[in-house]
Amino acid sequence: MAVDVLLGLQWGDEGKGKIVDVLSAGYDLIARFQGGPNAGHTLEFDGKKFVLNTIPSGIFFENTLNLIGNGVIIDPITLKKELGKLKDAGHDLLEKQNLVIAKKAHLILPTHQLLDAASEKKMGEGKIGSTLKGIGPTYMDKTGRNGLRVGDITLPDFKERYQKLADKHLAMLQALYGETPDLTERTAEFFAAIDLIKKFPLVDSEHLVNNYLKEGKKVLAEGAQGAMLDIDFGSYPFVTSSNTTAAGACTGLGIAPRNVGEVIGIFKAYCTRVGGGPFPTELNNETGEELRRIGHEFGATTGRPRRTGWIDLPALKYAIMLSGVSQLVMTKADVLSGFEKIYACTHYNYLGEKIDYMPYDICSITPEPIYKEIDGWHEDLTGITEVSKIPAKLKSYIDFLEAELGVPVKYLSVGPDRKQTLVLH
Ligand code: GDP
Ligand code: IMO
Ligand code: MG
Repeated sequence: MAVDVLLGLQWGDEGKGKIVDVLSAGYDLIARFQGGPNAGHTLEFDGKKFVLNTIPSGIFFENTLNLIGNGVIIDPITLKKELGKLKDAGHDLLEKQNLVIAKKAHLILPTHQLLDAASEKKMGEGKIGSTLKGIGPTYMDKTGRNGLRVGDITLPDFKERYQKLADKHLAMLQALYGETPDLTERTAEFFAAIDLIKKFPLVDSEHLVNNYLKEGKKVLAEGAQGAMLDIDFGSYPFVTSSNTTAAGACTGLGIAPRNVGEVIGIFKAYCTRVGGGPFPTELNNETGEELRRIGHEFGATTGRPRRTGWIDLPALKYAIMLSGVSQLVMTKADVLSGFEKIYACTHYNYLGEKIDYMPYDICSITPEPIYKEIDGWHEDLTGITEVSKIPAKLKSYIDFLEAELGVPVKYLSVGPDRKQTLVLH
Protein backbone atom coordinates (compact mmCIF):
# COMPACT_ATOMS: atom_id res chain seq x y z
CA MET A 1 0.00 0.00 0.00
CA ALA A 2 1.03 3.59 -0.59
CA VAL A 3 0.13 6.92 0.96
CA ASP A 4 -1.95 9.18 -1.24
CA VAL A 5 -1.10 12.86 -0.85
CA LEU A 6 -3.55 15.72 -1.23
CA LEU A 7 -2.22 19.25 -1.54
CA GLY A 8 -2.93 22.77 -2.76
CA LEU A 9 -1.41 23.90 -6.07
CA GLN A 10 -1.86 27.66 -5.79
CA TRP A 11 -1.45 30.10 -2.88
CA GLY A 12 -3.65 28.17 -0.44
CA ASP A 13 -7.41 28.02 0.21
CA GLU A 14 -8.05 25.86 -2.85
CA GLY A 15 -10.67 23.82 -0.96
CA LYS A 16 -8.43 21.12 0.55
CA GLY A 17 -10.60 20.70 3.65
CA LYS A 18 -13.74 20.10 1.62
CA ILE A 19 -12.09 17.55 -0.66
CA VAL A 20 -10.36 15.66 2.18
CA ASP A 21 -13.77 15.38 3.83
CA VAL A 22 -15.27 14.08 0.58
CA LEU A 23 -12.52 11.47 0.22
CA SER A 24 -12.23 10.51 3.91
CA ALA A 25 -14.79 7.74 3.84
CA GLY A 26 -12.40 5.79 1.57
CA TYR A 27 -9.41 6.08 3.93
CA ASP A 28 -8.46 4.51 7.28
CA LEU A 29 -6.13 7.33 8.25
CA ILE A 30 -6.00 11.05 7.43
CA ALA A 31 -2.65 12.58 8.37
CA ARG A 32 -1.79 16.31 8.33
CA PHE A 33 1.89 16.66 7.42
CA GLN A 34 2.96 20.31 7.70
CA GLY A 35 1.94 23.83 8.61
CA GLY A 36 0.10 24.89 11.70
CA PRO A 37 -2.90 26.99 12.65
CA ASN A 38 -2.12 29.37 9.79
CA ALA A 39 -4.31 26.90 7.87
CA GLY A 40 -8.07 27.26 7.74
CA HIS A 41 -9.78 24.26 6.15
CA THR A 42 -13.53 24.62 5.66
CA LEU A 43 -15.99 21.73 5.53
CA GLU A 44 -19.73 21.90 4.95
CA PHE A 45 -22.32 19.17 5.20
CA ASP A 46 -25.88 18.74 6.48
CA GLY A 47 -26.24 22.53 6.67
CA LYS A 48 -23.30 22.81 9.10
CA LYS A 49 -19.96 24.49 8.56
CA PHE A 50 -16.67 23.76 10.32
CA VAL A 51 -13.28 25.47 10.00
CA LEU A 52 -10.32 23.34 11.07
CA ASN A 53 -6.89 24.84 11.75
CA THR A 54 -4.76 22.03 13.13
CA ILE A 55 -7.07 19.05 13.17
CA PRO A 56 -7.17 16.89 10.01
CA SER A 57 -10.32 17.04 7.90
CA GLY A 58 -11.24 13.36 8.30
CA ILE A 59 -12.75 13.62 11.77
CA PHE A 60 -16.36 13.40 10.66
CA PHE A 61 -16.15 9.78 9.56
CA GLU A 62 -16.62 7.04 12.14
CA ASN A 63 -13.95 4.63 10.96
CA THR A 64 -11.24 7.08 10.00
CA LEU A 65 -8.38 7.83 12.38
CA ASN A 66 -6.81 11.30 12.24
CA LEU A 67 -3.18 12.10 12.88
CA ILE A 68 -1.48 15.44 13.47
CA GLY A 69 1.90 14.50 12.01
CA ASN A 70 5.44 15.35 13.10
CA GLY A 71 5.80 18.01 10.39
CA VAL A 72 2.93 20.04 11.85
CA ILE A 73 3.47 22.72 14.47
CA ILE A 74 0.83 22.95 17.17
CA ASP A 75 -0.42 25.93 19.11
CA PRO A 76 -1.96 24.24 22.16
CA ILE A 77 -4.25 27.22 22.83
CA THR A 78 -5.70 27.18 19.29
CA LEU A 79 -6.00 23.39 19.35
CA LYS A 80 -7.94 23.54 22.64
CA LYS A 81 -10.32 26.11 21.12
CA GLU A 82 -10.77 23.96 18.01
CA LEU A 83 -11.52 20.89 20.13
CA GLY A 84 -13.94 22.92 22.27
CA LYS A 85 -15.91 24.15 19.25
CA LEU A 86 -16.16 20.62 17.88
CA LYS A 87 -17.29 19.30 21.25
CA ASP A 88 -19.98 21.99 21.46
CA ALA A 89 -21.20 20.85 18.03
CA GLY A 90 -21.49 17.26 19.26
CA HIS A 91 -18.09 15.99 18.11
CA ASP A 92 -16.09 15.15 21.22
CA LEU A 93 -12.85 13.80 19.75
CA LEU A 94 -11.63 12.49 23.13
CA GLU A 95 -14.77 10.42 23.37
CA LYS A 96 -14.66 9.37 19.71
CA GLN A 97 -10.97 8.41 20.07
CA ASN A 98 -10.30 9.41 16.47
CA LEU A 99 -7.44 11.88 16.96
CA VAL A 100 -3.80 11.08 17.72
CA ILE A 101 -0.87 13.48 17.87
CA ALA A 102 2.77 12.92 16.84
CA LYS A 103 5.23 13.22 19.70
CA LYS A 104 7.69 14.80 17.27
CA ALA A 105 5.37 17.67 16.29
CA HIS A 106 6.75 21.00 17.54
CA LEU A 107 4.94 23.38 19.87
CA ILE A 108 4.12 27.02 19.19
CA LEU A 109 4.67 29.10 22.33
CA PRO A 110 2.85 32.38 23.01
CA THR A 111 6.24 34.10 22.64
CA HIS A 112 6.62 32.68 19.10
CA GLN A 113 3.48 34.57 18.19
CA LEU A 114 4.77 37.77 19.76
CA LEU A 115 8.00 37.45 17.79
CA ASP A 116 6.00 36.89 14.58
CA ALA A 117 3.92 40.02 15.21
CA ALA A 118 6.92 42.15 16.23
CA SER A 119 8.88 41.09 13.14
CA GLU A 120 5.97 41.85 10.79
CA LYS A 121 5.40 45.23 12.46
CA LYS A 122 9.02 46.17 12.01
CA MET A 123 8.95 45.22 8.31
CA GLY A 124 6.11 47.69 7.68
CA GLU A 125 5.11 47.86 3.99
CA GLY A 126 7.36 44.98 3.00
CA LYS A 127 5.80 42.57 5.48
CA ILE A 128 5.00 38.97 4.53
CA GLY A 129 1.36 39.33 5.55
CA SER A 130 1.72 36.42 7.97
CA THR A 131 -1.32 35.04 9.75
CA LEU A 132 0.62 35.93 12.95
CA LYS A 133 0.19 32.44 14.37
CA GLY A 134 3.89 32.14 15.18
CA ILE A 135 4.69 29.91 12.20
CA GLY A 136 8.03 31.42 11.12
CA PRO A 137 9.57 31.69 14.62
CA THR A 138 8.48 28.14 15.56
CA TYR A 139 9.96 26.53 12.45
CA MET A 140 13.08 28.66 13.07
CA ASP A 141 13.41 27.13 16.53
CA LYS A 142 12.80 23.67 15.05
CA THR A 143 15.59 23.98 12.47
CA GLY A 144 17.70 25.94 14.95
CA ARG A 145 17.41 22.92 17.27
CA ASN A 146 15.88 24.87 20.13
CA GLY A 147 12.26 23.79 19.78
CA LEU A 148 9.93 22.03 22.17
CA ARG A 149 8.05 18.97 20.95
CA VAL A 150 4.74 17.44 21.95
CA GLY A 151 6.58 14.45 23.44
CA ASP A 152 8.35 16.82 25.84
CA ILE A 153 5.13 17.71 27.65
CA THR A 154 5.26 14.47 29.65
CA LEU A 155 8.82 15.10 30.88
CA PRO A 156 9.17 16.13 34.54
CA ASP A 157 11.16 19.24 33.61
CA PHE A 158 8.82 20.43 30.82
CA LYS A 159 7.99 23.68 32.67
CA GLU A 160 11.68 24.53 33.03
CA ARG A 161 12.31 23.77 29.36
CA TYR A 162 9.35 25.96 28.44
CA GLN A 163 10.61 28.81 30.63
CA LYS A 164 14.11 28.60 29.17
CA LEU A 165 12.79 29.00 25.62
CA ALA A 166 10.26 31.67 26.60
CA ASP A 167 13.03 33.63 28.38
CA LYS A 168 15.16 33.51 25.25
CA HIS A 169 12.23 34.87 23.25
CA LEU A 170 11.58 37.59 25.82
CA ALA A 171 15.22 38.67 25.60
CA MET A 172 14.88 38.81 21.79
CA LEU A 173 11.65 40.82 22.03
CA GLN A 174 13.35 43.29 24.34
CA ALA A 175 16.60 43.58 22.41
CA LEU A 176 15.20 43.66 18.88
CA TYR A 177 11.85 45.35 19.30
CA GLY A 178 11.94 47.04 22.73
CA GLU A 179 8.94 45.00 23.89
CA THR A 180 8.41 43.67 27.42
CA PRO A 181 5.07 41.84 27.32
CA ASP A 182 3.23 40.48 30.34
CA LEU A 183 2.68 36.80 29.68
CA THR A 184 0.93 35.71 32.87
CA GLU A 185 -2.45 35.08 31.28
CA ARG A 186 -1.13 33.48 28.06
CA THR A 187 1.17 31.18 30.03
CA ALA A 188 -1.72 29.96 32.18
CA GLU A 189 -3.80 29.38 29.03
CA PHE A 190 -0.90 27.52 27.42
CA PHE A 191 -0.51 25.09 30.33
CA ALA A 192 -4.26 24.52 30.60
CA ALA A 193 -4.20 23.55 26.92
CA ILE A 194 -1.19 21.29 27.48
CA ASP A 195 -3.21 19.44 30.12
CA LEU A 196 -5.89 18.75 27.50
CA ILE A 197 -3.35 17.58 24.89
CA LYS A 198 -1.98 15.07 27.45
CA LYS A 199 -5.34 13.29 27.34
CA PHE A 200 -4.90 12.36 23.66
CA PRO A 201 -2.74 9.47 22.47
CA LEU A 202 0.74 10.87 21.78
CA VAL A 203 2.27 8.57 19.21
CA ASP A 204 5.41 7.68 17.30
CA SER A 205 3.58 8.60 14.15
CA GLU A 206 6.20 7.33 11.68
CA HIS A 207 5.61 3.83 13.06
CA LEU A 208 1.86 4.27 13.10
CA VAL A 209 1.73 5.34 9.46
CA ASN A 210 4.12 2.64 8.26
CA ASN A 211 2.27 -0.05 10.23
CA TYR A 212 -0.98 1.08 8.60
CA LEU A 213 0.68 0.61 5.21
CA LYS A 214 2.01 -2.84 6.15
CA GLU A 215 -1.48 -3.88 7.20
CA GLY A 216 -2.84 -2.79 3.82
CA LYS A 217 -4.80 0.13 5.24
CA LYS A 218 -5.44 3.28 3.23
CA VAL A 219 -3.70 6.51 4.23
CA LEU A 220 -4.27 10.03 2.91
CA ALA A 221 -1.78 12.78 3.73
CA GLU A 222 -3.45 16.19 4.02
CA GLY A 223 -1.44 19.24 3.06
CA ALA A 224 -1.94 22.80 4.20
CA GLN A 225 -1.21 26.06 2.32
CA GLY A 226 -0.26 25.65 -1.36
CA ALA A 227 2.72 25.02 -3.65
CA MET A 228 3.37 28.70 -4.24
CA LEU A 229 3.80 29.19 -0.48
CA ASP A 230 6.43 26.42 -0.25
CA ILE A 231 9.54 27.55 1.66
CA ASP A 232 11.89 26.33 -1.11
CA PHE A 233 9.90 26.79 -4.31
CA GLY A 234 7.25 29.41 -3.53
CA SER A 235 7.41 33.16 -4.10
CA TYR A 236 10.18 33.57 -1.51
CA PRO A 237 10.27 35.40 0.87
CA PHE A 238 6.47 35.73 0.61
CA VAL A 239 5.93 32.12 1.62
CA THR A 240 5.21 30.07 4.69
CA SER A 241 7.95 28.22 6.60
CA SER A 242 7.32 24.60 5.59
CA ASN A 243 7.45 22.38 2.51
CA THR A 244 3.93 22.36 1.15
CA THR A 245 4.87 20.16 -1.83
CA ALA A 246 4.68 16.33 -1.89
CA ALA A 247 8.18 15.93 -0.45
CA GLY A 248 6.83 17.54 2.73
CA ALA A 249 4.57 14.53 3.22
CA CYS A 250 7.64 12.26 3.42
CA THR A 251 9.45 14.31 6.07
CA GLY A 252 6.24 15.39 7.76
CA LEU A 253 5.02 11.84 8.35
CA GLY A 254 8.08 9.61 8.03
CA ILE A 255 7.14 7.87 4.81
CA ALA A 256 9.61 6.86 2.12
CA PRO A 257 9.25 8.50 -1.32
CA ARG A 258 8.67 5.06 -2.87
CA ASN A 259 5.59 4.72 -0.66
CA VAL A 260 3.82 7.73 -2.12
CA GLY A 261 0.86 6.73 -4.29
CA GLU A 262 -1.55 9.11 -5.96
CA VAL A 263 -0.75 12.79 -5.61
CA ILE A 264 -4.00 14.73 -5.71
CA GLY A 265 -3.55 18.41 -6.54
CA ILE A 266 -6.30 20.93 -5.91
CA PHE A 267 -6.78 24.22 -7.69
CA LYS A 268 -9.53 26.80 -7.98
CA ALA A 269 -11.05 27.53 -11.38
CA TYR A 270 -9.47 30.97 -10.89
CA CYS A 271 -6.84 32.04 -8.35
CA THR A 272 -6.54 33.77 -4.98
CA ARG A 273 -3.84 34.81 -2.59
CA VAL A 274 -3.98 36.27 0.91
CA GLY A 275 -1.11 38.28 2.37
CA GLY A 276 1.75 40.04 0.58
CA GLY A 277 3.89 39.05 -2.38
CA PRO A 278 3.69 38.72 -6.14
CA PHE A 279 0.50 37.53 -7.84
CA PRO A 280 0.94 37.87 -11.61
CA THR A 281 -2.71 37.34 -12.60
CA GLU A 282 -4.17 39.55 -9.86
CA LEU A 283 -7.20 41.60 -10.90
CA ASN A 284 -7.23 44.96 -9.13
CA ASN A 285 -10.51 45.90 -10.76
CA GLU A 286 -14.25 45.25 -10.78
CA THR A 287 -13.83 41.71 -12.09
CA GLY A 288 -11.55 40.95 -9.15
CA GLU A 289 -14.18 42.40 -6.79
CA GLU A 290 -16.83 40.19 -8.43
CA LEU A 291 -14.73 37.08 -7.93
CA ARG A 292 -14.22 38.01 -4.26
CA ARG A 293 -17.91 38.70 -3.74
CA ILE A 294 -19.29 35.64 -5.53
CA GLY A 295 -16.56 33.31 -4.24
CA HIS A 296 -16.78 34.67 -0.65
CA GLU A 297 -13.04 35.13 -0.81
CA PHE A 298 -12.24 36.07 2.76
CA GLY A 299 -9.65 34.19 4.83
CA ALA A 300 -11.01 31.27 6.87
CA THR A 301 -8.43 31.94 9.62
CA THR A 302 -7.98 35.71 9.63
CA GLY A 303 -11.08 37.01 7.78
CA ARG A 304 -8.82 39.10 5.54
CA PRO A 305 -10.10 39.77 2.00
CA ARG A 306 -8.32 37.46 -0.43
CA ARG A 307 -6.70 38.92 -3.52
CA THR A 308 -8.30 37.45 -6.64
CA GLY A 309 -7.27 36.84 -10.25
CA TRP A 310 -7.46 34.50 -13.24
CA ILE A 311 -5.98 31.03 -13.33
CA ASP A 312 -2.20 30.97 -13.77
CA LEU A 313 -1.05 27.97 -15.84
CA PRO A 314 2.74 28.50 -15.66
CA ALA A 315 2.38 28.51 -11.84
CA LEU A 316 0.09 25.46 -11.91
CA LYS A 317 2.44 23.52 -14.22
CA TYR A 318 5.30 24.32 -11.85
CA ALA A 319 3.30 23.06 -8.86
CA ILE A 320 2.32 19.87 -10.72
CA MET A 321 5.95 19.21 -11.61
CA LEU A 322 7.22 19.79 -8.07
CA SER A 323 4.81 17.31 -6.51
CA GLY A 324 4.36 14.77 -9.32
CA VAL A 325 0.63 15.41 -9.30
CA SER A 326 -1.29 12.47 -10.81
CA GLN A 327 -4.90 13.65 -10.35
CA LEU A 328 -6.40 17.10 -10.32
CA VAL A 329 -9.38 18.52 -8.47
CA MET A 330 -10.91 21.76 -9.71
CA THR A 331 -12.96 23.68 -7.15
CA LYS A 332 -15.22 26.73 -7.26
CA ALA A 333 -16.18 26.30 -10.92
CA ASP A 334 -19.62 27.59 -9.86
CA VAL A 335 -18.13 30.98 -9.00
CA LEU A 336 -17.33 31.60 -12.69
CA SER A 337 -20.94 31.03 -13.86
CA GLY A 338 -22.24 34.18 -15.50
CA PHE A 339 -18.89 35.62 -16.61
CA GLU A 340 -19.19 36.31 -20.35
CA LYS A 341 -15.50 35.58 -20.88
CA ILE A 342 -12.96 34.00 -18.60
CA TYR A 343 -9.20 34.12 -19.01
CA ALA A 344 -6.36 31.67 -18.48
CA CYS A 345 -2.78 32.89 -18.27
CA THR A 346 -0.79 30.54 -20.52
CA HIS A 347 2.51 32.47 -20.66
CA TYR A 348 4.25 35.42 -19.11
CA ASN A 349 5.89 38.38 -20.70
CA TYR A 350 9.05 38.60 -18.63
CA LEU A 351 11.67 41.21 -19.42
CA GLY A 352 10.39 41.35 -23.01
CA GLU A 353 10.45 37.58 -23.51
CA LYS A 354 7.46 35.21 -23.81
CA ILE A 355 8.00 32.38 -21.34
CA ASP A 356 5.82 29.56 -20.00
CA TYR A 357 7.56 28.93 -16.69
CA MET A 358 7.89 30.63 -13.32
CA PRO A 359 11.10 32.70 -13.39
CA TYR A 360 13.47 32.99 -10.40
CA ASP A 361 12.70 36.54 -9.44
CA ILE A 362 8.99 37.25 -9.43
CA CYS A 363 9.21 39.51 -6.39
CA SER A 364 11.04 42.49 -7.83
CA ILE A 365 10.00 41.91 -11.46
CA THR A 366 6.41 40.64 -11.58
CA PRO A 367 5.81 38.70 -14.81
CA GLU A 368 3.08 40.13 -17.02
CA PRO A 369 0.41 37.53 -17.83
CA ILE A 370 -0.46 36.61 -21.43
CA TYR A 371 -4.03 35.34 -21.55
CA LYS A 372 -6.13 33.00 -23.61
CA GLU A 373 -9.75 34.16 -23.77
CA ILE A 374 -12.33 31.46 -23.10
CA ASP A 375 -16.11 31.57 -23.50
CA GLY A 376 -17.89 31.57 -20.16
CA TRP A 377 -21.04 29.65 -19.25
CA HIS A 378 -24.21 30.96 -17.69
CA GLU A 379 -25.78 27.92 -16.05
CA ASP A 380 -25.90 27.65 -12.27
CA LEU A 381 -23.72 24.65 -11.42
CA THR A 382 -24.50 24.31 -7.73
CA GLY A 383 -27.32 21.80 -8.15
CA ILE A 384 -25.62 19.58 -10.75
CA THR A 385 -25.29 15.97 -9.65
CA GLU A 386 -24.60 14.27 -12.98
CA VAL A 387 -21.56 14.71 -15.19
CA SER A 388 -23.81 14.74 -18.28
CA LYS A 389 -25.36 18.01 -17.02
CA ILE A 390 -22.07 19.92 -17.03
CA PRO A 391 -22.43 22.85 -19.49
CA ALA A 392 -20.54 22.33 -22.76
CA LYS A 393 -18.50 25.50 -22.29
CA LEU A 394 -17.31 24.41 -18.84
CA LYS A 395 -16.50 21.01 -20.32
CA SER A 396 -14.30 22.73 -22.95
CA TYR A 397 -12.59 24.77 -20.19
CA ILE A 398 -11.76 21.52 -18.38
CA ASP A 399 -10.58 19.84 -21.62
CA PHE A 400 -8.36 22.84 -22.30
CA LEU A 401 -6.87 22.69 -18.79
CA GLU A 402 -6.25 18.95 -19.02
CA ALA A 403 -4.46 19.39 -22.35
CA GLU A 404 -2.32 22.24 -20.99
CA LEU A 405 -1.50 20.59 -17.67
CA GLY A 406 -1.17 16.99 -18.88
CA VAL A 407 -3.03 15.58 -15.85
CA PRO A 408 -6.70 14.51 -15.68
CA VAL A 409 -9.21 16.55 -13.68
CA LYS A 410 -10.72 13.72 -11.65
CA TYR A 411 -13.07 15.72 -9.44
CA LEU A 412 -15.04 18.88 -10.04
CA SER A 413 -16.38 20.85 -7.09
CA VAL A 414 -19.44 23.01 -7.74
CA GLY A 415 -20.21 24.32 -4.27
CA PRO A 416 -18.93 24.24 -0.68
CA ASP A 417 -21.06 21.30 0.43
CA ARG A 418 -19.71 17.75 0.59
CA LYS A 419 -22.44 16.68 -1.86
CA GLN A 420 -21.53 19.31 -4.45
CA THR A 421 -18.74 17.20 -5.93
CA LEU A 422 -18.65 15.37 -9.28
CA VAL A 423 -16.35 12.53 -10.29
CA LEU A 424 -15.29 13.15 -13.89
CA HIS A 425 -13.04 10.17 -14.61
P1 GDP B 1 -8.55 25.19 2.18
O1 GDP B 1 -7.72 26.01 3.06
O2 GDP B 1 -7.83 24.74 0.95
O3 GDP B 1 -9.21 24.04 2.88
O4 GDP B 1 -9.73 26.13 1.65
P2 GDP B 1 -10.58 27.18 2.55
O5 GDP B 1 -11.53 26.44 3.36
O6 GDP B 1 -9.67 28.14 3.23
O7 GDP B 1 -11.26 28.02 1.40
C1 GDP B 1 -12.10 27.44 0.45
C2 GDP B 1 -13.47 28.10 0.57
O8 GDP B 1 -14.23 27.77 -0.56
C3 GDP B 1 -14.27 27.61 1.76
O9 GDP B 1 -15.11 28.64 2.19
C4 GDP B 1 -15.08 26.46 1.18
O10 GDP B 1 -16.28 26.22 1.88
C5 GDP B 1 -15.36 26.99 -0.19
N1 GDP B 1 -15.48 26.00 -1.27
C6 GDP B 1 -14.82 24.84 -1.46
N2 GDP B 1 -15.15 24.30 -2.64
C7 GDP B 1 -16.05 25.12 -3.21
C8 GDP B 1 -16.75 25.13 -4.46
O11 GDP B 1 -16.59 24.24 -5.30
N3 GDP B 1 -17.59 26.17 -4.69
C9 GDP B 1 -17.77 27.18 -3.80
N4 GDP B 1 -18.60 28.16 -4.12
N5 GDP B 1 -17.12 27.21 -2.62
C10 GDP B 1 -16.26 26.21 -2.34
P1 IMO C 1 -4.62 26.97 4.00
O1 IMO C 1 -4.12 25.66 4.54
C1 IMO C 1 -3.73 30.93 2.41
C2 IMO C 1 -0.04 32.84 3.82
C3 IMO C 1 -0.21 34.08 4.68
C4 IMO C 1 1.06 34.82 4.34
C5 IMO C 1 2.08 33.71 4.19
C6 IMO C 1 2.90 33.44 5.44
O2 IMO C 1 -5.90 27.41 4.61
O3 IMO C 1 -4.62 26.97 2.52
P2 IMO C 1 2.40 32.43 7.84
O4 IMO C 1 1.24 32.58 8.76
O5 IMO C 1 2.62 31.03 7.37
O6 IMO C 1 3.64 33.05 8.38
O7 IMO C 1 2.02 33.31 6.54
O8 IMO C 1 1.33 32.54 3.87
N1 IMO C 1 -0.78 31.66 4.32
C7 IMO C 1 -1.89 31.18 3.77
N2 IMO C 1 -2.64 31.66 2.74
N3 IMO C 1 -4.06 29.77 3.01
C8 IMO C 1 -3.30 29.26 4.01
O9 IMO C 1 -3.55 28.03 4.53
C9 IMO C 1 -2.19 29.99 4.46
N4 IMO C 1 -1.26 29.81 5.42
C10 IMO C 1 -0.41 30.82 5.32
O10 IMO C 1 -1.37 34.79 4.33
O11 IMO C 1 0.93 35.45 3.08
MG1 MG D 1 -7.76 27.90 3.97
